[in-house]
Amino acid sequence: MAEKSKILIIGVTGYIGKYTVAASAKSGHPTFALVRECTVSDPAKGKLIENFKNLGVTVLHGDLYNHEGLVKAIKQVDVVISTVGSLQLGDQVKIIAAIKEAEIFTF
Ligand SMILES: NC(=O)c1ccc[n+]([C@@H]2O[C@H](COP(=O)([O-])OP(=O)(O)OC[C@H]3O[C@@H](n4cnc5c(N)ncnc54)[C@H](OP(=O)(O)O)[C@@H]3O)[C@@H](O)[C@H]2O)c1
Repeated sequence: MAEKSKILIIGVTGYIGKYTVAASAKSGHPTFALVRECTVSDPAKGKLIENFKNLGVTVLHGDLYNHEGLVKAIKQVDVVISTVGSLQLGDQVKIIAAIKEAEIFTF
């Protein structure tokens, strides 16, 4: 059987992102969740991140505005899914720039 693609999700603590992470992990995709370091200390979001880990998700620290960290995270996967909030929609071009540098081509 073909190996399942590795998926990085950005925006994982959001309304849409948390369901996306769970669906990816439960469908057997090696799943990576990009989390801002400052978010881990938030009690509710910290609990959500622990739940992700219990599903086998690999949690990576990073930020849409940290290009180097984004490239490093993206290099580990085959597919990137962005569920960042509406305020960051325009800045998703930063994800595209990082994908181009990492040389993976699914978005
Ligand atoms: N909510 C809805 O009912 C709904 C319906 C239809 C479509 N949508 C669309 O779905 C998308 C996601 O919406 P949402 O409501 O799920 O958003 P949300 O709840 O506001 O979540 C935003 C996510 O983006 C993350 N984020 C913010 N700034 C970031 C940064 N600099 N680097 C990395 N991550 C960052 C947040 O992380 P932190 O926890 O670190 O802040 C959070 O995980 C949007 O395009 C929205 O328009 C939403």
